[in-house]
Amino acid sequence: MTSPRLVWQPMRHCKSSSSILAQQTQQPTRFLSSTASASQAAASSNPPNTNNNTNTSQPNPNPHPNPAAPKPKKPLTPAQQAFLSSALRVNQAGELAATLIYTAQTPPVVAREPHLRPLMRHMYEQEAGHLSTFNALIAKHRVRPTALYPVWSALATGLGWTTGALGREAAMACTEAVETEIGGHYNAQIRRLLEMVGEWEAEGYEVGGELRELIGTLRRIRDEELEHLDHAVEHDAKKAEPYWLLTGVIRAGCRGAIWVSERV
Ligand SMILES: [Fe+2]
Ligand SMILES: [Fe+2]
Repeated sequence: MTSPRLVWQPMRHCKSSSSILAQQTQQPTRFLSSTASASQAAASSNPPNTNNNTNTSQPNPNPHPNPAAPKPKKPLTPAQQAFLSSALRVNQAGELAATLIYTAQTPPVVAREPHLRPLMRHMYEQEAGHLSTFNALIAKHRVRPTALYPVWSALATGLGWTTGALGREAAMACTEAVETEIGGHYNAQIRRLLEMVGEWEAEGYEVGGELRELIGTLRRIRDEELEHLDHAVEHDAKKAEPYWLLTGVIRAGCRGAIWVSERV
């Protein structure tokens, strides 16, 4: 039986200079082969007693006449494909920005306060791990990266350098603001995916390990972002001057960047 797994959007645009594109072009055309068989997958995943109804918004009336039989898998709807593609795109862009913020912040911060070097290195290394995770996922599912890579890169580096130059408190306030928004952002994605899983289970469909693994990955990364937030507060983020203006501007910028990166 054909296993549709996650059938995501095809890569429509890629930057020739992107290392992601280089990685993607070396990948087998996993998405394309899945797409070619998407209609067959939809048909084969419908239980034989459902009159071949491919309307994925309708519950399956009797999916498992035999409890011992393997459950069918349900292909993603176009809306679910679009959600997953935009989620991976914005996550990858956000993690790129996070690595650049820490890269720019660390030299001025540790020059004044060398005892913060291990903490800054620890947070950077976790962000680098997150970026590597999403680089692999967008390559695997052939999701195009954000077209605004250069813009986000410049803004993130500028934000990191500026807050780092202002001192430890401002650097930590930046981390607190960013991680507050990112923690909420990952939570929203996790909730949406859990809703999908709940609907499929209620309809009697198999939920692939790939989707469960993605939820686990997002939870782990969300927890690490919130750990960064705690570190920032412990290291006097709230003593930054002017705290409310600084964090307000950065949080608004994060929300704007997330909104744009989900779409562009
Ligand atoms: Fe991260
Ligand atoms: Fe983080």
